Amino acid sequence: MINKHTPFIWYGGDYNPDQWDEKTIEEDMKLFKKAGINMVTLPVFSWAKLEPEEGVYNFEWLDKILDTLQKNEIRVCMATPTTAQPAWLSKKYPEVLPVDIAGRKRTHGMRVYFCVNSEKYRERAAAIAKQMAKRYKDYPGLAAWHVANEYGTYCYCENCQKKFRLWLKKRYGTLENLNEKWNTAFWGRIVYDFDEIMLPTELNDDYRFNPAIQLDYMRFMTDSTKECYENEAQVLRKYTPDIPVFSNISGFIKKLDQFTLTENMDCAGWDNYPTPGAPESIPALKHDIMRALKDGKPYIITEQSPNQQNWQPYNKLKRPGEVRTLAYQGIARGADACMFFQMRQSIAGQEKFHGAVISHAGTENTRVFKEISRLGAELKKLGDVCLDGRTNAQVGMLFDWNNWWALELTSGPTQDMDYFYQVHKYYKAFYEKNIQVDILKMTSDFDRYKIIVAPLLYMVKDGVAEKLTAFVEKGGILVATYMTGLTDENDRCIFGAYPGKLRKVLGLWVEETDALFPEERNSIIISKESGRLKGEYSCNFLCDLLHLETAETIGEYGKDFYEGRPCVTKNDFGKGFAYYLGTEPEERFLRDFVDELCEKADIHPVFESVGKVEICVRENAKGKVIFLINQSEESAMVELGEETYEELLTGQERKGTIHLNSRDVVILKKR
Ligand code: GLA
Ligand code: ZN
Repeated sequence: MINKHTPFIWYGGDYNPDQWDEKTIEEDMKLFKKAGINMVTLPVFSWAKLEPEEGVYNFEWLDKILDTLQKNEIRVCMATPTTAQPAWLSKKYPEVLPVDIAGRKRTHGMRVYFCVNSEKYRERAAAIAKQMAKRYKDYPGLAAWHVANEYGTYCYCENCQKKFRLWLKKRYGTLENLNEKWNTAFWGRIVYDFDEIMLPTELNDDYRFNPAIQLDYMRFMTDSTKECYENEAQVLRKYTPDIPVFSNISGFIKKLDQFTLTENMDCAGWDNYPTPGAPESIPALKHDIMRALKDGKPYIITEQSPNQQNWQPYNKLKRPGEVRTLAYQGIARGADACMFFQMRQSIAGQEKFHGAVISHAGTENTRVFKEISRLGAELKKLGDVCLDGRTNAQVGMLFDWNNWWALELTSGPTQDMDYFYQVHKYYKAFYEKNIQVDILKMTSDFDRYKIIVAPLLYMVKDGVAEKLTAFVEKGGILVATYMTGLTDENDRCIFGAYPGKLRKVLGLWVEETDALFPEERNSIIISKESGRLKGEYSCNFLCDLLHLETAETIGEYGKDFYEGRPCVTKNDFGKGFAYYLGTEPEERFLRDFVDELCEKADIHPVFESVGKVEICVRENAKGKVIFLINQSEESAMVELGEETYEELLTGQERKGTIHLNSRDVVILKKR
């Protein structure tokens, strides 16, 4: 449980009462009650109001609001307001303002607009965190500390430059080592002093900045942000050792290595803003990544929009019922909290048209408010039934930020390299069959799984190849793809042929990789029918030219100068086997392929279904809770079989076939 004193699903969201008068706040309380709100996050953006001048604090207004919330039995996810430093701070100490990659000093006015390495910023942030911790440590409604908001600003100021050099000294020890690891002899980039090392820049370079430096910069920024978080977290922990501390992650998760960033957090929390029209499997994958951050522990959906947003290119209204299906998608995948941005729509400012529980109309008689209230009542009914529930997936998928960065920083073989897109493609093939997937870190326990998929494992960190080899040896099924095993963790290529240390377990080596034009296709011709894969499939993106050692050919290329050469292979190894996909197959291939894999591994969806229905299971000490979610516009059917279940939202008994209309949700527990 996120906090053992809150044995319910957190329901509420970002609340900004400092924008409102007392009468409005009173009205809010009435409406919150109606909507079943039990938690609010505040005061995320109130630093300027809480500290009008350096060291002078004004907490009385917040005390009053906290009293009101307490009276209304609404708990608080207490934010330190450090995402938006006051103007006086930026003015008095310009060092807190960030410098962008082009070397431009940014002006005050944005939020998350500070240098995470600024000592002044850290000093003032820790100071206000301390004030808050001292003042509210005994506040009965305190459920968690939410530090700052959506970290993720890169800074290229002189101070960051200095700290980067120190960070490199620590990582590489000596200049000789750094020069070797970065291979600075190439293009004459040798450095004789740490002070000669420059931060990456997009200017002054005719081609690309050294990817090794860029990669280390991103690692450095992650570490710096982690320190910046820790700077406040340690203060909070000191005063309230039993209260969980975390920070919310932006849905655009690329910039910071979230595995590293969340290491010292008590739980993960993230902001889910799916792009209208994007497939549901994308938020599903992101939820699964969030669940992975703390190795399967429940996480918080800190934000989602109750309706349309304002910052998407086209801000579609959430369709009737959509907010509910999206919310349940998260809960079904491991979230114990369902929070929104924002509780009341602001009257002006950047996000005045962003959806809110209470809109400018200010009434409960809106479609959105009614939908939020319905969901609130349902979550209340669910109580703690799925809290702390885990997902016992049998398929694992490797995911790694360093790999992501290095792969995309690399020049060649194609400009269309998009790691997240690629991972999603493989993920989706399982998602559509309702086979649950756990996202795995390189350090995760692999042996719990029957199948491990490692899409584009370009960077093989120390020990990972050995772990994957042992996994297969013991009977696991491994799926590897093009762009695997090319570099080590310093982005240095492997000598002795790709995929380096994975060569034996895959039973092949890769001599060359051809990049296809976007519209260009080749084909995979199945040469050895082995179950589900039959006939011909199209492929594109990249085509590896392989040499098989112990692997056997499953499919071969249909054309080009490498026509007839293997592109899909299988290698029996120990008690298991490993597949290699040397090219990006069309989705139809992946559907057949996943069928074949699951058949071999004896993995089945919980229920058979017809139509687009998402089926997820969470299991806690009290048993399994099964979620059936139809996010589509069409109806769907699920076959429960002979067992009898209780439908938790209605109390009805269910067995046999269940029909789900568009946007229906059914939550079941075995009787
Ligand atoms: C982010 C922020 C919020 C708000 C929302 C709007 O996630 O954390 O403060 O700006 O976006 O979608
Ligand atoms: Zn900086």
